[in-house]
Amino acid sequence: MLAAYAARINPDDPLSGLEIGERPEPEAQPGWTTVTVKAASLNHHDLWSLKGVGLPEDRLPMILGCDAAGLDPDGNEVIVHSVVSSPEWRGDETFDPRRSILSERHPGSFAQRVAVPTRNLVPKPGDLTFEEAACLPTAWLTAYRMLFTRGDVKPGSTILVQGAGGGVSTALIVLAHAAGIRVWVTSREERKRAQAIRLGAAEAFEPNSRLPERVDAVLETVGAATWSHSLKSLKPGGTLVVSGATSGQDPSADLNRVFFLQLSVVGSTMGTRDELERLARLCAERGIKPTIDATYPLRDARDAFARLAAGDVFGKLVLTG
Ligand SMILES: NC(=O)c1ccc[n+]([C@@H]2O[C@H](COP(=O)([O-])OP(=O)(O)OC[C@H]3O[C@@H](n4cnc5c(N)ncnc54)[C@H](OP(=O)(O)O)[C@@H]3O)[C@@H](O)[C@H]2O)c1
Repeated sequence: MLAAYAARINPDDPLSGLEIGERPEPEAQPGWTTVTVKAASLNHHDLWSLKGVGLPEDRLPMILGCDAAGLDPDGNEVIVHSVVSSPEWRGDETFDPRRSILSERHPGSFAQRVAVPTRNLVPKPGDLTFEEAACLPTAWLTAYRMLFTRGDVKPGSTILVQGAGGGVSTALIVLAHAAGIRVWVTSREERKRAQAIRLGAAEAFEPNSRLPERVDAVLETVGAATWSHSLKSLKPGGTLVVSGATSGQDPSADLNRVFFLQLSVVGSTMGTRDELERLARLCAERGIKPTIDATYPLRDARDAFARLAAGDVFGKLVLTG
């Protein structure tokens, strides 16, 4: 079957390790199901994998891709929950120390077919296209958990989303706006700041701008480039929710500010199967459509990867079979 896979690791030139070509069909295992992939979306995770983050050389070649929507063997429309926990694990899958996400230990979703534990399938609402549904399992699920589970952000609060253009960030804007939260954003590009306003952000600022007032929570995926601004932007008692560090993971910790202002720094990773099911229902109920920048056939995956690596994206890039 056709697949986009990591053949080599190269931290400096990740796209040089990407191959698009034939890979073996997924192997049937007890308790697992093979899904025919109709759409899969790119995440920054796929670039990290090509750089060797979370994907050691001895697991290559590895089919990339965390997210998929498609058909199960009975023809049901499904969304794939990407967090694979150990078979004996019960409860919140993201707390399983042995969990992985598709493409780390098990072949990923940038293929015509992908095998997943049957318990990882979630019904796809008819209101969402396969392309839209394929945006939910990583970026949108991460945003949902950051806001409503780990961040516990209340309607009527004001939040700051750093780096408006990304997959997680655009999801944060749309979901928070739908929940009655006032959303402020930063972005490096004027074009993306204007697009964020159209998605529902109340105001958009250049990175590191002084805000009109301090916010209740900051939602952070950028890391070193914005961390200090994130801490300075919080009200006393405010919460910084972090799920990524695209620009680097060693910022100044500014501990005086953390303890004097009694700030909370909260980590968040992916989400549970139940959260994914609730997210899908929320999208269907409220007519929410994930923001898709562009769709590419699987055979043109290299073009999509190049766009993601260049940061030239607003929302999600989707591959179709
Ligand atoms: N923990 C988890 O479970 C989890 C899940 C999903 C994602 N993540 C992580 O979260 C991060 C974002 O993922 P994604 O898929 O949304 O990535 P993406 O679509 O590639 O978005 C990248 C984002 O980073 C911002 N950015 C990049 N470099 C920057 C810099 N030097 N200064 C300021 N902003 C910068 C961009 O904002 P502008 O271009 O608008 O400025 C954009 O919003 C990644 O590091 C990813 O690994 C973690």
